[in-house]
Amino acid sequence: MIEKIVTDLYCVNKSCKKIRLSLESFLELKDECIEGFLSCENCTSKYPIIQGVPVLMENFHEYARQRILSFGKWIVNSKSPQLKAFLRSEGVKIGNPTYNDRYEENSILYKSYLKDHYGYPSNDKLLSLLNKEIKPDHIYKMLASNSLNLNGIGLDIGCSIGSSTFELSKKLSYVFGIDLSFSFILEARKRMQNRKSRNMEFIVADATNLPFRSKFFQIVVALNVIDRMDFNKLILSINSCIKKYGKLILVDPYHFVDNNGKEEFDSVKIRNKLEKFGYKIKNKESYIPWIIKMNERSYLFYFVDFLEADKNY
Ligand SMILES: C[S@@+](CC[C@H](N)C(=O)[O-])C[C@H]1O[C@@H](n2cnc3c(N)ncnc32)[C@H](O)[C@@H]1O
Ligand SMILES: [Zn+2]
Repeated sequence: MIEKIVTDLYCVNKSCKKIRLSLESFLELKDECIEGFLSCENCTSKYPIIQGVPVLMENFHEYARQRILSFGKWIVNSKSPQLKAFLRSEGVKIGNPTYNDRYEENSILYKSYLKDHYGYPSNDKLLSLLNKEIKPDHIYKMLASNSLNLNGIGLDIGCSIGSSTFELSKKLSYVFGIDLSFSFILEARKRMQNRKSRNMEFIVADATNLPFRSKFFQIVVALNVIDRMDFNKLILSINSCIKKYGKLILVDPYHFVDNNGKEEFDSVKIRNKLEKFGYKIKNKESYIPWIIKMNERSYLFYFVDFLEADKNY
């Protein structure tokens, strides 16, 4: 974690008054904290920084329980005695561990995302069949288009490996990418370092309990995530940190398949809902191709709706 962003991070304990966190660093590399804690002086919550990734989850041992294989590696690879001791003490609280988060290392979707959004090989079979009319990076590139007129500080919700965050960083002064998947955030940070980008940071956080102060973001973007979470909680969480007249961009195929009873949306329903939550919708429904390669013989193909809305108040 780039150390200077600590001033932008707030406690996510819901029973604490959201206060700014302070940094205790045990292992550093240039201006980055590799191992340490973000601590709240008010409620004494401690959020670990593991392999450079800040994990700002309200309940760390529950987070670790759901990705027990990654948790094992965090313990094995931690260098400082303080982080090792913290992880061990959290480990004692874990009952019924699982490792089936679909976006963590070793899962099929993680591997598909690693196949670069920035283009498949020129001989890719499906794209060749379609005369390369579909570009895997098209929806991400749309975020850097001049017509959106983006500026200020941005938030990219469910950023995965950062493809959309990198595009946003071309227009914004600073952008935060957040995701629940530790593996995605670790990979996004590697790509950020390879690009030598300095106006972004990636954090593990829950979109429905964000670690930022109110009215902090001029732009909030969420691509292909609304079937993953409770939309009412998501929009309340966004409203807690978006500026007056800030811009919200939702890009989604409304693909509600294994949604475990979550509220379902289509292009009309989502626009109505956003209006109720204080947004002015700027555009009509669109059908933009989005493709993810699962393996050499299978792809997921969607038409996504690119929705742009301004916060009225
Ligand atoms: C379908 S993927 C979309 C990834 C990326 N936005 C894109 O379009 O390429 C959904 C992402 O949302 C993340 N996610 C799911 N629930 C989340 C939550 N409550 N908070 C933050 N991220 C979440 C997943 O880990 C995953 O990376
Ligand atoms: Zn606190």
